[in-house]
Amino acid sequence: MTRILMVCLGNICRSPLAHGILESKLPPQQFFIDSAGTTSYHIGASPDERSTKIAKNHNIDISHQAARQFKPSDFEYFDIIYAMDQSNYQHLYEMAQSSEDRSKLKLILKENPHTTDQNVPDPYYGELTDFQKVFDILEETCSIISNRLTEINKI
Ligand code: 4NP
Repeated sequence: MTRILMVCLGNICRSPLAHGILESKLPPQQFFIDSAGTTSYHIGASPDERSTKIAKNHNIDISHQAARQFKPSDFEYFDIIYAMDQSNYQHLYEMAQSSEDRSKLKLILKENPHTTDQNVPDPYYGELTDFQKVFDILEETCSIISNRLTEINKI
């Protein structure tokens, strides 16, 4: 089982989308996907309704997700931890206890050779179109990630 965690600030806009999109592309028998936020702001909350709507438009149901805060033991449990932006990455990097922890931590857009952007833009104060842009970049990036992971698993 490979365990992958998506992390943003609030765990209500970006990481729930990344979680749902990657989960839709990988076999659940082999991959466990989850998401978390670096802050406690929205613990227990459902994803932002704009993320839920955009996901639903693409036949992905994220409505059952509930926000949680990243915890230090996530470094032990997960194999790969994807930060949505450099601020989240920095926050997690400071919580890492070992070189092994740090080796699990990645900036998600670094996996996507089609963009030089480092940050999945925070859509919280934006419009539905901003959430659609977030979906598009995460869809492209999660396709690349899932193709690579399933190729690795075939070998
Ligand atoms: P997320 O978006 O990190 O993609 O879930 C945000 C959610 C909440 C806030 C900021 C960003 N907030 O300030 O409450």
